[in-house]
Amino acid sequence: MTEIQRTLVIIKPDAVQRGLVGEVVHRFERKGLKLIGLKLFKLSDERAKELYQPHQGKFFYDYLIEFMTSSPIVAICLEGANAIDIVRIINGATKPEEAQPGSIRGDFSIDITHNVVHASDSVENAERELAILFEPNELNEYQRIDDEILYSPEL
Ligand code: CMP
Repeated sequence: MTEIQRTLVIIKPDAVQRGLVGEVVHRFERKGLKLIGLKLFKLSDERAKELYQPHQGKFFYDYLIEFMTSSPIVAICLEGANAIDIVRIINGATKPEEAQPGSIRGDFSIDITHNVVHASDSVENAERELAILFEPNELNEYQRIDDEILYSPEL
């Protein structure tokens, strides 16, 4: 079933530091995913903890928060057909040894925490995470000029 979804991507501090922002955004844009929101900022400790609340108590949690708040991130809201699963495939597996070449993590990371990107893993989490990082007026509704040729008409 095709469903138009929105998802959150974070370009993590390691990727911003390494000058990979354009490379990462390019991969989503060329797929046909629509940029709905995009901003660069330093994540506060409070927001990082809210975002990663499901991982609270895990052995890697404290370092994850420290890393994610260490320097600026880029938060992106993307929209498209089945965007949540598609973005996770483009990002690649979390474990570096499982991330396939051709995926963002497969091509650019070798560490499980410094792993370039984060993406929401479900519709519920996408809604939750987007609400933490974006104000409603930072999300833009618009037609892309190629919308009509990217998608077949509903059958
Ligand atoms: P992300 O997609 O941002 O979601 C949670 C993050 O926790 C994940 O990417 C990894 O960076 C990190 N993470 C998950 N599992 C581990 C682990 N076993 N050891 C260290 N970090 C982890």
